[in-house]
Amino acid sequence: TTKFLKDYAPPEYLIKDVALDASLAPKGARVSSRISIEPNAGTVAGTPLVLDGEALTLESIALNGQELEAGRYTLSPGKLTIANPPVGSFTLDIVTRCNPEANLELSGLYLSSGTYCTQCEPEGFRRITYFIDRPDVLATYTVRLEADRKSVPVLLSNGNPVDAGEIEGTGRHYAIWHDPHPKPSYLFALVGGNLASIHDTFTTASGREVALGIYVEPGKEDRCDWAMESLKRAMRWDEERFGLEYDLDVFNIVAVSDFNMGAMENKGLNIFNDKLVLARPDTASDADYTSIESVIAHEYFHNWTGNRVTCRDWFQLCLKEGLTVFRDQEFTDDVRMGPVMRILTARLLKARQFPEDAGPLAHPVRPASYIEINNFYTATVYEKGAELCRMLQTLIGKDAFRQGIALYFERNDGTAATVEDFVSAMADASGRDLTQFMRWYTQSGTPEIACSLDYDPHAKTARLKVNQVVPPTPGQSSKEPMHIPLKVGLIGANGDELPLKLNGETVPGGLLEVTEREQVFEFEDIPAPPTPSILRDFSAPVRVTTSLKPEQIEFLMIHDADPFNRWQAAQTYATDLIATAARDGLDLGPVSGPQAARLAQALEPGLRDETLAPTYRAETLKLPSESDIARELGRNVDTDAILAARDTLRKTLSEAMADTLSAIYAATATDDAFSPDPDSAGRRALRNAALDLMTATGTQEAIDRALRHYRNATNMTDSIMALSVLSHIPSDECDEALDDFYTRWQGDALVLDKWFAVQARAGRPDSVATVHRLLGHPKFSLKNPNRVRALIGSFAMGNPSGFNRADGAGYAFLAQQALKIDGFNPHVAARLLGAFESWKTLEPGRQAHAKKALQGLSSAELSTDAYEIVTKTLGSA
Ligand code: ARG
Ligand code: ZN
Repeated sequence: TTKFLKDYAPPEYLIKDVALDASLAPKGARVSSRISIEPNAGTVAGTPLVLDGEALTLESIALNGQELEAGRYTLSPGKLTIANPPVGSFTLDIVTRCNPEANLELSGLYLSSGTYCTQCEPEGFRRITYFIDRPDVLATYTVRLEADRKSVPVLLSNGNPVDAGEIEGTGRHYAIWHDPHPKPSYLFALVGGNLASIHDTFTTASGREVALGIYVEPGKEDRCDWAMESLKRAMRWDEERFGLEYDLDVFNIVAVSDFNMGAMENKGLNIFNDKLVLARPDTASDADYTSIESVIAHEYFHNWTGNRVTCRDWFQLCLKEGLTVFRDQEFTDDVRMGPVMRILTARLLKARQFPEDAGPLAHPVRPASYIEINNFYTATVYEKGAELCRMLQTLIGKDAFRQGIALYFERNDGTAATVEDFVSAMADASGRDLTQFMRWYTQSGTPEIACSLDYDPHAKTARLKVNQVVPPTPGQSSKEPMHIPLKVGLIGANGDELPLKLNGETVPGGLLEVTEREQVFEFEDIPAPPTPSILRDFSAPVRVTTSLKPEQIEFLMIHDADPFNRWQAAQTYATDLIATAARDGLDLGPVSGPQAARLAQALEPGLRDETLAPTYRAETLKLPSESDIARELGRNVDTDAILAARDTLRKTLSEAMADTLSAIYAATATDDAFSPDPDSAGRRALRNAALDLMTATGTQEAIDRALRHYRNATNMTDSIMALSVLSHIPSDECDEALDDFYTRWQGDALVLDKWFAVQARAGRPDSVATVHRLLGHPKFSLKNPNRVRALIGSFAMGNPSGFNRADGAGYAFLAQQALKIDGFNPHVAARLLGAFESWKTLEPGRQAHAKKALQGLSSAELSTDAYEIVTKTLGSA
C-alpha cells in the first residue's frame, strides 16, 4: 500500500523512556523491554494502542505489571494492538524472541561473521521488539546487554557506559549503557562480539574529553588508523565550521562485513560496512581512503543533523541526508579535494541522479508518497538534497547559512523536524523570501536551462537570455519555474574576465538569480563580443544548453578562469564528439578526425601546466563515461556503438598526446613510501590516469607497460589501476595479473571484492559469460552484500555494454540473480533492479529485451521492495 505525506498525523501515543534488556545467544535473542506510554496531546481516551512488530515471537506482555491475558490484545501481521488501553500513562513489559542467525535481511538484530549487530533505520527496530517505530517518537534508552563472556567479550550500545560485570557461575557477563539524549528508535544500536579495538581521545572545544573507539574483527586492528584520524578531523571541522560539538563521553565505531548500505549514524555507536573503515596502503586504494574519510565524517555529522534534530516522518529524509551529505562534501573540499571536489560531486550527481530524475523512478527530493521507504535512500534524496542545501548557501551567503544552521538548532534541538523548519530558519537568518525555493523540494525532474547571448556593438551590451523548463515526470505533468542560482562570467577575446554590470551595479560573484520561465540579463560596458561561461562551479543541479560553437568551447577549455567550467568545456566537447559518432549507427569520423585532434591540442596546455593541481589534471584526462554519452543521447541508445566510439576517441587522443602522456607518466613516478595525503594521492591519480589513456592504444608496448605497472606497484591504488586497465584487453598478461592478484588476496574479503569487480566491469564481448562463471566461484556468495555488489552490481551499473548486450543476456542474468536475492534480502535486490531505470532510452531491440526481463519479474513473487521498483520501472508500458 502507498503511504502519502499529506496523510501525516502525529502519533496517538508517545514513549518517553525505554529500558531494554537483550540476552544474546547463538540460537536467538531474548529481548525484554519496559516502555512507559502516554497519550499524545489531543488523543481521545481509550484510543487503541498499536505497536509495530515483525519477525518476533511474543513470550509475554504485561500492563502496569499485570500479565495481559490473550483477549486484551491482538496480534496481526506487523502489529500488536491493545484495543482498550487504560486512560492516561501506563507501562508495558514485553518479552520477545528474535532469531539473529536467520536474519539474512540484515535489518533488525543479525549476526555478521559471528558478531551480533543491528540496523534499525528506517524500520528495523520493530524486528527487535514491539514499539511505536516511527521517527517522531523520541525516548531515552537504558540498555542492558548480556552474553557469553568468552565468545562475546565486547558489549556495546548507545550513549555512555554505566556498569558491567560477570554473572556469577554462568559464564555470562553483562553491560549497561545509558543514552541521555532522547532519540527515535531508528537510532538504536547494539553490538556484541569478539572484537579487537583501537582507542584514542578527543577534547572538544569546550573541554569535554571524549573516548573514541573503533571495533573490528581481531587481526584487522592495523587497518583502523585512517578511520580514527578521519574521525578526529571531522570532529574538529564541525566545531570550526558550524560550531557543533560532540555531546557524549564516548564515541564508538564498529565495522562489520555484512551490511546493506554504507554506514549508520546510531547515537554514539556508528555501525559501518567494514569497507568504509578498514584501510592499509597495500589493501585500500586512494579512492577507498577518500570514501572512508568522507563517510566517517558523514556519520559523525549526523550527530547533529539527524540525531539532535531528527525527521518528523520518512518523507523528510532529505532533511537529514541532504544536509549531512552537503556537510561531508564541504569537509572533503576543505581537507582534501579543493577545486576538484565540485567536479567529483557534479560527475556523481549527473551519473546517478540525473538518470533517476529523467526515468520512471523520478521523485521529488521530498517524496510525496512511497510504497517501501527503503527504496527512497536514493541519489535524489541524498545528492540532489545536498545540492539544495548548497544552493541555499549560495543564495544567502556562507555567513547567513551558518547563522541559519544555528537558528535551526536553537528552534528544533531535541525534536523531530520538517523541511519547512529548515528552510524557514534559513529564510529568517537571511531575511530572504525562500517561498519559491521550496519548489525544489516538491517538483521532480532536472530543470533545463537554455542560454543564448546577443552582443550589441553600438550599445556595448551583452544580453543573456535564459529560459528554464522543468520537464514532466511521473505524476507531475506541469511544473512551476524554479528559483535557480546561476553563476556566470563573460570572457573577453584575450581571455580576460570582464566585470559584470547590471543596471549600473556589479554582480557579486557573477551570481544571477533565475526565477522566471524566461529572463533577460543585460550586461553593460562590454567592449567587444564576449564568450559566456554559464553555470560556473556547477551552481545548480540543472542541465544547460548554450548556442556555443566548437571554437568557443575550445576557447573556454583554455581560458575560463572557473576551474569547473574549464573542465566542463572539455567534457562537453568530448561528449559531443562521441555522441555524434554513436548516434543512429556508428560513424567514427568525429572521434578519429580533425575535431578529435583539436580536442587533444586544447587539452595539452592544461595537462602540461605544472601550476595546476595534479588531481585536477587527472580529471581532465578522464573522458566522459559510456553512461554520460547514453544520457546525452537520451534515446535510441546503442551501448556497443557508444563503447566503440569512446574507445576510438581514447585511442586517437592517446596517439595524439603520446609525448605529453609519457612525460607525465615519467615525471610522476616516485620511490617514496605510500602516504594517503592529498598531494601524494593527486600525483598517483595523474600517473594512473595517464597510464589508463596510454593503454587505449592496445599495443603490445602498452600492455607491457601496464603489466610492469602492476608488478612494480607498492600500493593498492597502483595495483588495482593496472589490473583494471589490463582487464579491458583480452591478453595473457591480463590473465597473469588476475591470477597473481587472486593468489595474493584470496584470504582478504575486501580486496577480493575488487578482483570480482574489475572482471565484472571489463567491457569485453564475453562479460556475461565471465560473470556467470564467477557466480560459481567458491569465494562467491549471494548472502554477502559487498560481494553481490562487487560482482552483480559492478556488472549491472559499471559495464554498460555488457549489461545492455544486444541479445538481452545481461538483463536476463540480472533479473535471475535479483529474484534469488529478493527471497532473503529485498533491500539489496531492489537496489540491483535500479539498473533497469533507463531502459526506455534504449534502441528498440534492447528495449524489448529489457521489457521482457521486467515483465518476467513482475509476474514472479516479489517483496514489496522489488515490487515497487519493478512496477514503477515498467510504468504503463
Ligand atoms: N542513515 C544512513 C546514512 O548515513 C543510511 C542508512 C540507510 N539504511 C537503510 N537500510 N536504508 O546515510
Ligand atoms: Zn546519512
